[in-house]
Amino acid sequence: VVKNQMMASGDSQVVAIIPAAGVGRRMGGQTPKLLRKLAGQEILIRTLKALNIPEIEAFFISVSLPLKEEISRLVREAFTEREIFFSDGGKERQDSVFNCLSAASDWSGWRVPPERRIVLIHDAARPLVDEEVLRQVIREASVTGASGVGVPVKDTIKVVGGDLMVKETPDRTCLWAIQTPQAFSFPVIWEAHLRARADSFMGTDDCSLVERSGYPVRMVEGSYRNIKITTPEDTRIAAVFLEEGGTETMLRVGQGYDVHRVLTGR
Ligand code: C5P
Repeated sequence: VVKNQMMASGDSQVVAIIPAAGVGRRMGGQTPKLLRKLAGQEILIRTLKALNIPEIEAFFISVSLPLKEEISRLVREAFTEREIFFSDGGKERQDSVFNCLSAASDWSGWRVPPERRIVLIHDAARPLVDEEVLRQVIREASVTGASGVGVPVKDTIKVVGGDLMVKETPDRTCLWAIQTPQAFSFPVIWEAHLRARADSFMGTDDCSLVERSGYPVRMVEGSYRNIKITTPEDTRIAAVFLEEGGTETMLRVGQGYDVHRVLTGR
């Protein structure tokens, strides 16, 4: 049964949840993964800069306890104008997201009713997300209640058993690889997480929790550049993408004007 979550009309408010409490074991090395530099800047700071659009009103970031002090200092220094909250990281990504959701549910900044509150969830390890995709996924979530960014898979996918025997080859034309950002109306994602916890279900992305709650999820086609930095080679690939001209190296030119009332003597 697919439930219908028609969104209430009117303005919505958006906050971002950024799970950043992973161990980064597959990256190896001494420096924690998200504090490693990518083209001269920490991966986490790059990701937050990519999320730094006016539509997003607050950041809720989950961090592991040993890094909490270092990360919060670094982030607060880089984003002095932002409302930022830190939550404890959990055992799994889903637990880290849930801790941020709990903090977001208590946020004092909400001005709209719950069904018009949008939560955008984005992995700290994906610094190459672009603004247009963020806006699209927010827009879709405010219409359907749940939306995720992904790309059609390029490889043929096999379902393989523990004995390495192929069980099935699903039709590639309807297979997508899901990424983040994913965005949701607050009541939808809150219910989905509470249900998953009640059933001890662990998913590797947030849309899957919403799907099993019976709500529709709408895909937004993203970019193959929006990689998750997991292993050392990913850092090199991301550096090349940045060099090729991400939003940061792109020169933008604009014109504007300013109008003032004429006052006596001025
Ligand atoms: O482990 P995975 O690659 O799925 O992690 C995706 C994101 O979730 C990363 O940004 C990572 O820091 C975060 N994470 C977390 N808490 C965990 C595990 C992962 O916040 N326990």
